[in-house]
Amino acid sequence: MRSVVTGVGAFLPEHVVTNDDLAKIVETSDEWIIERTGIRQRHKASDDQAVSDLAVEACRKALADAGKTPADVDLIIMATTTADLTFPAAATIVQRKLGCPVGIAFDVQAVCSGFVYAMSVADGFVARGHAKCALVIGAETMSRLMDWTDRGTCVLFGDGAGAVVLEPQAGEGTKADRGVLSFALRADGTKQDLLYVDGGVSTTGTVGKLRMLGNQVFRHAVVNIAEAITMAAEKADVTIPEVDWFIPHQANQRILEGVARRLGLEEHKVISTVAEHANTSAASIPLALAHGIADGRIKKGDLLLLEAMGGGLTWGAVVLRL
Ligand code: COA
Repeated sequence: MRSVVTGVGAFLPEHVVTNDDLAKIVETSDEWIIERTGIRQRHKASDDQAVSDLAVEACRKALADAGKTPADVDLIIMATTTADLTFPAAATIVQRKLGCPVGIAFDVQAVCSGFVYAMSVADGFVARGHAKCALVIGAETMSRLMDWTDRGTCVLFGDGAGAVVLEPQAGEGTKADRGVLSFALRADGTKQDLLYVDGGVSTTGTVGKLRMLGNQVFRHAVVNIAEAITMAAEKADVTIPEVDWFIPHQANQRILEGVARRLGLEEHKVISTVAEHANTSAASIPLALAHGIADGRIKKGDLLLLEAMGGGLTWGAVVLRL
């Protein structure tokens, strides 16, 4: 059995924050942000929008795309680092708001690698017959973790949500099958200080703010992402030129280009939404996937490679045929 993506949905909050808007609150400029990151704008959730609200909108679209209803859903895995509450898991809040029946629901916390981790976990349930209709969500309100006086971080992140429906389908066991073909996951806890939030339940008792050593994260990102892509491609027995679309975590246009150069990827095969969405952490891959499908580039049957790196450090990649 394979876990096949049968529906994709995305949601961005209405409010757009431009680089010029940020230049009014920190010493930065539209030119600097575009040149160093490729980011032109980001979306920001309103004060009364919780991350579960963004996720619910993305899930409704994904379910409609799959021809399913909330009543069909028996598994919800939500990748988020900005859950509504410390507990319960945001996935259970999404379950309630969507009106899904009693089933399995939990969160996965791997920061920007969250969607890749969540897809890999979901594959274990779906392909082994433990779920017939899974929602895998990446959703974030990163704006809530920003130190709005730190120009090195507050310009980089945005809010949003994306979701996919995964259903089991019989395959032949070859790379021609639809569905998840392989994944590669990595974590290195010794690199915590490069990217973390300086608060938490069992330490400060506060939510905290995001802290980052940007140029060191940058260096690790290119090497680690290239490693994950290579590992996942080898496991699926696919070559880099065989991949139709690379759907990276959208942290920085220069990271996307650095990885492409290192692995000899054709840049026209890399889906980039970093200019419009900025870094939406766990949401960025499903948002980019939805974007590439909506504009007609990504089609059913295409071979996709999803990849990400984030706080932890964590990194990973998933190979799947749509
Ligand atoms: N506007 C203007 N200047 C800024 C700035 C901003 N928004 N942010 C940082 N700077 C300044 C720094 O203060 C520094 O000034 P100084 O030399 O006077 O001290 C200068 O720009 C260079 O800083 P540096 O951090 O070396 O810049 P950089 O070229 O590495 O670019 C990032 C900074 C954050 C854009 C880049 O390192 C990056 O994108 N890193 C990866 C971050 C990431 O993707 N994290 C998430 C991974 S999931």
